[in-house]
Parts: sequence; C-alpha cells; structure tokens
Amino acid sequence: MSGGLMDSFLVEGGTPLRGTVEVSGSKNAALPILMASIAVDGDVSYSNVPDLRDIRTTAKLLNILGRKAEMKEGQVSVENGEMGIEAPYDLVKTMRASVLCLGPLLARKREAKVSLPGGCAIGARPVDQHLLALEKMGAEFDLQNGYIYGRCPNGLKGAHISFAMPTVGGTENALMAAALADGETIMENVAREPEIVDLANFLNRCGARIEGQGSSTIRVRGVDRLYGCTYSIMPDRIEAGTFLVAAGITGGELLIKNCPAGDMVAVIEKLRETGMSIEETADGILAAAPSQLKAADVSTNPHPGFPTDMQAQFMALLCRAQGSGMVQENIFENRFMHVQELVRMGADIHVKGASAMVRGVQRLEGAPVMASDLRAGAALVLAGIAAEGETKIQRIYHIDRGYERFEDKLSAVGAHISRIHEQD
Ligand code: EPU
Repeated sequence: MSGGLMDSFLVEGGTPLRGTVEVSGSKNAALPILMASIAVDGDVSYSNVPDLRDIRTTAKLLNILGRKAEMKEGQVSVENGEMGIEAPYDLVKTMRASVLCLGPLLARKREAKVSLPGGCAIGARPVDQHLLALEKMGAEFDLQNGYIYGRCPNGLKGAHISFAMPTVGGTENALMAAALADGETIMENVAREPEIVDLANFLNRCGARIEGQGSSTIRVRGVDRLYGCTYSIMPDRIEAGTFLVAAGITGGELLIKNCPAGDMVAVIEKLRETGMSIEETADGILAAAPSQLKAADVSTNPHPGFPTDMQAQFMALLCRAQGSGMVQENIFENRFMHVQELVRMGADIHVKGASAMVRGVQRLEGAPVMASDLRAGAALVLAGIAAEGETKIQRIYHIDRGYERFEDKLSAVGAHISRIHEQD
C-alpha cells in the first residue's frame, strides 16, 4: 500500500460509475479479531484481512507485545510466544482501537499497561465503559502519566455487566476478557453490530463458549484456554455501503461483489427511499441510480439502525437529491466535520446541534477540501466524483486507514481519481 502523510487525491468529477467492484474484509471486524490473538494460546492464521494502515498498526502492536505477526496478501499469521504487557503512546495515538488489547492482555497476562487514547475529530470517545466492565470481572485500574495500568493478580472472574450504552469497543474488550474468565459472565445492553458477532464466532472457533452475539444480551462461560485456529474476516459493510452511495451519487450502476447485504438492511432501505434500485443477483448486489435522487431523512443509531459510519456518505448523496433531508447524528457529538467542506463544493447544509438540514442542489462543483476523519474523507471523494470540475482532497491518510485500494477500485469503475504524493 502506498500512503504518505501528506498524500492527496485529485478527482475530476462528472463521470457515472459503471462496472463491478469487490468489497474487502472488514476493518472494524479485523481490528478486534486480530487483538483477540493476544488471548489465544496457539498460532492463529487469518484470511480476508484488508491491507490498511490500521491493520498494519495492529500488526505492529502485536509485534511490540511479543507476538510475531506477519501480513501478506490478505493473510495475517500470528505466532504464539512470550508476551509483554505494554501498548505505548506512540502507537495508541495513531489508532484508538489499540485500547482493544486491554481485555485480552488482562485475561492472558493478568496485567496491562495501555496508553489512554486521546480525543479524536469525531468526539471525546471515553473508555469508561470498557474499564467498568473489566472492573466487574475483578480488574483494578490506575491512571498514571497518561497510561491505564490494569491488574487482576487472581485472574478475571465471571460477572454480571450492564452497559450504560451499547458500546462496540466496550463490548469487544469485555467479550475477549470474559472468554477466559473463571465462571459465567452475563453482559446486558451490549452492542449488536455484525463485527461483534464476527469476534464472538472467532473466539468460539478458538474454543470459547459464547452465546447470544447479535442480540442485546451475551452469555459467556469462561474456559481455561483458547486454541489457535484459522479464520476468515467478514466483508466490510461500510465499504460496501460507500460503493452503493457511489453508484447513486454519480448516476451510475455498480455490481458489488462480496457485499454483506444481510448486515446492511437499514442502509439499503434508506437508499431505496432515495429512489435507488438495489437488487440481489447471483453475482452480487446490483445498485443503480434513478434519473433523479429524492431526499430522505436519516437518523444514526446503534445496529440494526442506520450506522454512524455511513452518515457522511449519505449526506453527500443528499446534496444531489431533490428536496430537503434531515440528518440526525445520535452516536458521536462532533461528526459533522464534512459539512463545511461539502459547503465549499456548493452544498446547502445547515447544522443545528446534532441535526443537519441538507437541501439538494443542482450541481456540486470541485474545490480543494480536507478530510477530517475516515468517513468524512470518503464522503468528500464521493462528492468529488459527482461534482463538476476538479476536487483535491487533502489529508487522505484518514482514508487510507479504512479503505483498501480506494482509488484503484474507483478508477476501475470509471472514476477519474489519482493519488498525489507530496513531501511531508
Ligand atoms: N462511549 C462512552 N464510553 C465508553 C465507550 C463509548 O461514552 O466507554 C460512547 C462514545 O463516545 C460514543 C458511543 O459511546 O459516543 C459509541 O461508541 P462505541 O464504543 O460504540 O464506538 P467505538 O467502539 O469507539 C466503533 C467503530 C467506529 C464506529 C463506532 C460506532 C471500531 C474500531 N470503530 O468505535 O468506527 O463509528 O463503533 O459504530 O470498530 C470508523 O470506522 O470510521 C469508526 C469511527
């Protein structure tokens, strides 16, 4: 993968996308599932792993912790071995998901030292629920010098945990810990995202005894040891959704292969409301734009609701629809950073608190813009492909964190997009 810190995308807009595009393995499933190898006493081999900056960071973290992790063409192998306990600041600051090593480290080493993740562009994103869940299982924490020190000298014990909100990362940390805890853990109000189900399936493949994944209550009967296995990561529903929007916003038609449509019901229903045709065929999901998109309102919610990770892309689509649509962001407090950039491209959007009113415009026009986070960046690329003229998207290292070969996949279906390497 290429990708310097100062790289930009140059997009010449105005072409409808047509052709076939294949979805990669899921970033947000691969991250916790790779971290879970810390809890495994054996070698693990993963397939369908996307080649992304965050995945490379995770492999680096596993190596720092003493597990030999190697990435090659969609495969990652992690060797069993002696492990350290520290996730250093320099790494955690580049990827918040590093905090997911806390649960498996406590389970396996009874000790962990993990840098406290800072805030990020989309909100404060505290980890209080992760810590509370692990405390219920007997862990003790101190916060010192920017690090979380965790200990459970007598091991983790099964517990009854009720989350204050259905947190994805919190559920994942608790799940990895509970798999090796002594006794039974009942977790209530857990996140129901498909990535949680994939993690639970992986742990079960290693010998864990987890039931209820995908519902609000998960029951885990702790086991003494998790064994190595081979596992294929689920496809990325957010990448797939981004391609659906790409077909709609450009007035094109895309066949999307390896599309996990069953995990994307809310997104597919919402896109149909805009007039798009989305049909299941033997070869994949066929998505076609109508002659004129219609506006629709959307509210982000925990799964099975409309995902916050599709909010920015959907907003870009609304910019080209007829009428007004209201976008309500319920998960993160500051996830409208793309609005001002879209406005620079001619969009008509007004934000009030957690809502944005988007009035469709006749045309978007190219402009220099900046990606503030991963999904905002994707939305700007989509808007650029649909706009008239040239758009330069800066800070695409955010996009490189989560979309595998984004520009190659888009070019292959007709987008005029190229990467410019600029000196750091
Ligand atoms: N929250 C707390 N306390 C906690 C944990 C979460 O207050 O201890 C709050 C958060 O601040 C947020 C809400 O709960 O307002 C939901 O956060 P959650 O923990 O569910 O999110 P996450 O685990 O940090 C994952 C994805 C995000 C995705 C969210 C929501 C990964 C690595 N990240 O984050 O993905 O937006 O779930 O679905 O799985 C992305 O891929 O672009 C991305 C940001």
